[in-house]
Amino acid sequence: MRLERPPALEPEESESARPAGLNHVAIVVRDLDEAVAFYEELLGLPCDGRERVESEKVDVAFFGTGRGRIELVCPLTDDSGVARFLAKRGEGLHHICLDVPDIEAALAALAARGLPLLDAKPRAGAGRSRVAFLPPKGAHGVLIELRQGPAAAAPSHDEPT
Ligand code: CO
Repeated sequence: MRLERPPALEPEESESARPAGLNHVAIVVRDLDEAVAFYEELLGLPCDGRERVESEKVDVAFFGTGRGRIELVCPLTDDSGVARFLAKRGEGLHHICLDVPDIEAALAALAARGLPLLDAKPRAGAGRSRVAFLPPKGAHGVLIELRQGPAAAAPSHDEPT
C-alpha cells in the first residue's frame, strides 16, 4: 500500500526549514589514514581538517570548503551505528548532509508531516554544528543529515560561510 503523500512545506515554513543546499557527502571508510592518503596523494585533494565526533563514536576528515565538501567517516568502536553500517554494507556512501537555517524548524516541519526521524532533537556534529538524521527508509534509500552550522559570531576554520 502506498502511503498518502504528506502536505508540502508552506511558504512561511520554507524560510527557516527548507535546506539551503548540500553541505557534504559522507563516505564511510575502514582506515581513515589510508583513505585520507588516497584523497590527498592520489586524487590531489588537500585535507581540510580532522575531528573526533564523540556523539557518533567516529573520526572524520573533511575535504574542501564551503558547499559540496567530502567527509570521510571512520568508526572508533564496533558498537556504533556507523560501525554496523560498515560491517553490513562495506565502504561507500554513508549519508548526504543538507544545510538548514533552523534545524528545530526543519525537524518540526518533518515531524508534523509524520516523516520518520532518527533524531527528534538535534545533537552535536562536526565543526560545532548541530545535526539530526533522517532514516534511509523514509528518504528513498539515503541517510540524510540535516545540519545547522554554528552562529556566525564564532566561526571556525572549517566552517563554510
Ligand atoms: Co556528515
